[in-house]
Amino acid sequence: MKPPFFPRPSGHAALVPSVLAADFTCLKNSVAPVKELADWVQVDVMDGHFVPNISFGPGIVPAVAAASSLPIDAHMMVEDPGRFIDAFAAAGSALITVHAEARGAAACIKKIKRLGLRAGLALRPRTKLAKVLPHLKELDLILIMTVEPGFGGQAFMPEMLAKVRAARGLINRSGRAIWLQVDGGINARTAESSAAAGADSLVIGSALFSAASPAAFLRGLKRRL
Ligand code: DX5
Repeated sequence: MKPPFFPRPSGHAALVPSVLAADFTCLKNSVAPVKELADWVQVDVMDGHFVPNISFGPGIVPAVAAASSLPIDAHMMVEDPGRFIDAFAAAGSALITVHAEARGAAACIKKIKRLGLRAGLALRPRTKLAKVLPHLKELDLILIMTVEPGFGGQAFMPEMLAKVRAARGLINRSGRAIWLQVDGGINARTAESSAAAGADSLVIGSALFSAASPAAFLRGLKRRL
């Protein structure tokens, strides 16, 4: 069985800062203080079509890599991710997640794996979990969106916890080391409920970077999870 994306942190879910909420005037100021406490970093890529927002291109990957040596996970909220996989791979992404609702998702997963990267599949809140079934043998990560993708700072959708629990059951039955990631509205409280539901990778944007001390926030989270 292929090793998981990274060695699983002992005793708690992987903590994954989302740079969407970071200080864009100096990413280093945001990322450096948490790099010893985080497990990897996520960049939220938005094209203004798949979601009503535009964020950044492949250039964000080396910029974040310069701020921390942590692996980078590119969450592609784009209509046609196939056009950008080579660029995000070449930029240094370690994992690329495409949306099940995007064009050519199945082909993208195969291409990401062919490039030797880890592949993730993301589900919008309204997309059924069954969409991951045809890809289970290839996936390294399943991302259950706990907000409607497009913006940071939204409220967590508690109704997604049932989907997280179902995904945990699916992964356990598959016998494969697939990460179960949640993203959107994650704070100390929703991190706890998400981990209890079976998530083992938590993407945190606003709650982390708006904290007085993001490092203390992550330390506190590790104690709670
Ligand atoms: C939504 C983004 C956000 C981001 C985290 O498209 O994917 O979920 O990563 O945002 P917060 O943690 O601020 O909800």
